[in-house]
Amino acid sequence: MQMHKEFDREKVQAVLDAIAGRMAGEADRGEVANYIPELAEVSLNQFGIAVAPLEGPPIIAGDAEVPFSIQSISKVFGLVVALQCVGATLWRRVGREPSGDPFNSIVQLEFERGKPRNPFINPGAIVVSDVILQNAENTKNQHPVLELCRTLAKDPTVSIDNAVYASEAATGERNRALAYFMLAEGNLEGDVTAVTESYFQQCSIAMSCSQLATATRFLAAVGEYGAADAVGMTVERARRVNALMMTCGCYDASGEVAFRVGLPCKSGVGGGIIAIAPGHGSIAAWCPGLDEKGNSVLALKALEEVARKLKWSVF
Ligand code: DON
Repeated sequence: MQMHKEFDREKVQAVLDAIAGRMAGEADRGEVANYIPELAEVSLNQFGIAVAPLEGPPIIAGDAEVPFSIQSISKVFGLVVALQCVGATLWRRVGREPSGDPFNSIVQLEFERGKPRNPFINPGAIVVSDVILQNAENTKNQHPVLELCRTLAKDPTVSIDNAVYASEAATGERNRALAYFMLAEGNLEGDVTAVTESYFQQCSIAMSCSQLATATRFLAAVGEYGAADAVGMTVERARRVNALMMTCGCYDASGEVAFRVGLPCKSGVGGGIIAIAPGHGSIAAWCPGLDEKGNSVLALKALEEVARKLKWSVF
């Protein structure tokens, strides 16, 4: 039996409308990611937000239906696929500790013999891509992470943005360096080019806030609220993905994000951030301008406000 917390759609709509209205006039919007040239072309003057309750359609405001590059948010979906493939044996190759370092840092890898701290920093996600390539069925027909995004968003039109993919692949030396380092340490099974291409493809998936909120609500449906097994997730596994998002989802800003938002979050350099409110629903916010840690300035502000106004917190 499902027992959902009371959900007031009108109140949530009013909160989102007020935030979207205010964000449209915000002058301090951060800067677009420019190390992936295609992302540097995206207009800063966009802001969208969506909340997906455990049941019913998402509630949206602003540019919530504009697709954007999900980038590192894809690391959550990748982790789910890898856990479906190999279960807890994944943790022999990837840790579960926050890194306290930038998402593309290489220094820790050398001290820790090629085992990435967690699945949400780039080297961790590259190991996850390796696991998926070696173990998922039908990797030739469709990218398994894209397939999961389509299933969870209930939308077969979700696609990879090929211009972003080409741009990432053309400038991906740092990620290839991370992969070669892990190969040298015996923590990569596949070919470096194949594994990193697969990683670039999943980062280049384009989704809107509305699609992302819908696709991540299974993580909010945990415990007594049931239904987390929709994609072969156990309740325990969903809780653990949430725990990793809370501790590692925003890199070296994860502590600050936990302090400000109080919900498990995962960011991407496309400017999107997702947040999970267990028992209530999932939130996706987007504005392409980033702070110095690679997290969207306005999306973070918006999530902080939603959590405060709706009194959603895991603490
Ligand atoms: O590999 C990269 O650097 C990008 N494709 C993804 C990085 C990212 O989104 C970090 N998130 N804030």
